[in-house]
Amino acid sequence: MMRTRPLKVALLGCGVVGSEVARIMTTHADDLAARIGAPVELAGVAVRRPSKVREGIDPALITTDATALVERGDIDVVVEVIGGIEPARTLITTAFEHGASVVSANKALLAEDGPALHAAAQKYGGDLYYEAAVAGAIPLVRPLRESLAGDKVNRVLGIVNGTTNFILDRMDTSGAGYSEALDEATALGYAEADPTADVEGFDAAAKAAILAGIAFHTRVGIGEVHREGITEVTAADIASARRMGCTVKLLAICERAADGRSVTARVHPAMIPLSHPLASVREAYNAVFVEAEAAGQLMFYGPGAGGSPTASAVLGDLVAVCRNKLGETTGPGESAYTRLPVSPMGDVVTRYHISLDVADKPGVLAQVATVFAEQGVSIDTVRQQSRQDGDGEASLVVVTHRALDAALSGTVEALRKLDTVRGVASIMRVEGE
Ligand code: NDP
Ligand code: HSE
Repeated sequence: MMRTRPLKVALLGCGVVGSEVARIMTTHADDLAARIGAPVELAGVAVRRPSKVREGIDPALITTDATALVERGDIDVVVEVIGGIEPARTLITTAFEHGASVVSANKALLAEDGPALHAAAQKYGGDLYYEAAVAGAIPLVRPLRESLAGDKVNRVLGIVNGTTNFILDRMDTSGAGYSEALDEATALGYAEADPTADVEGFDAAAKAAILAGIAFHTRVGIGEVHREGITEVTAADIASARRMGCTVKLLAICERAADGRSVTARVHPAMIPLSHPLASVREAYNAVFVEAEAAGQLMFYGPGAGGSPTASAVLGDLVAVCRNKLGETTGPGESAYTRLPVSPMGDVVTRYHISLDVADKPGVLAQVATVFAEQGVSIDTVRQQSRQDGDGEASLVVVTHRALDAALSGTVEALRKLDTVRGVASIMRVEGE
């Protein structure tokens, strides 16, 4: 039986994502009503610039007073696609206080303050859904939160930022410069309002914190995620990766320790073999591997950014919370019962690709090898090449076996102190083998 009284939706933000949410709500209104069991009505749209023309949206719905909209008291669901911490946090909390459920795409806020938002949802009997906050259109939050709720997830590894994948892909395949590729990603609506969040790894780190929290049923703060962006990845790094049969990707890796007593979460560029499935993830696509005890290895792949793909995830959540509203129930809340500590980056086991400029004279290779041995780091391969310009220097590229990150970074520090090491040209982790 279809309920005739519509469920009222307040849309906070009508930019890249919000405008697509509004468009799909309008064009698919009948299907959404049939799937939910009641019509959904766009009751108001909060924006910053009211005079901007917004195609397909009744101008009477536009307001700059988002607070008044969420305080109306007759709103069933608030869709927050403004982004950032404030006013989004206060608006979401106010929405719960006024009896609404919330759908958000705001990974920055969820990573910063997820537990408090979940607590507010629970206190006022609302839902907090945020599929769009991680990996755009790809269903990942709900599979982790619901489908894998009976399994034990040990690892989540993947590409979760479309902008940086787009930039690295363009640099690798078309030789585009960094700035040119970033401008293109921004024009396509992939980049955040401030692209620093993308290129410095903050966006991926927020997603890693959310994923690790859900996967391991523990709280992982954004400050506990080790973060390195792509701003220092050079054309030389990418060329070096190619010579090794690898490519460079910005990875998010969340792992349960072998003894099961702690977890780690990190975001950094890494070389991965061209034969690895993540190497073929192009443009703004995302892909995430989930390794679970009973399920084995699962791969999720799809468009990780952009208005329409992200709106798909928002709409999926909207349907779910509307169904819950009609059924007078709520979906799963926060699950953080394991309370596992988050270990520092030094405890992570990984491999390094180190590129050194060294003096081209007898004994240097032995000196360098001794430093690795003293730090307990085993060398996998070494490639030395004298410079053509006859300046008495050589390039030395060392790839290690797996070791603790603390030992690997200690090795780099010790190498820097050698007189014969003129410079450390680049350091990059090697993953995915
Ligand atoms: P935009 O910058 O394109 O849109 C933001 C919207 O919020 C605009 O409509 C803006 O109004 C409005 N807004 C800003 N401040 C206020 C305010 N104080 N009160 C009312 N409205 C306000 O961002 P996106 O659509 O790209 O992103 C929205 C959210 O979705 C962010 O959390 C982002 O991280 C997330 N997201 C984005 C993806 C993407 O590919 N773009 C993918 C996945 C998640 P006005 O139009 O007047 O400027
Ligand atoms: N700026 C983000 C990205 C949007 O490029 O992945 C999707 O979360």
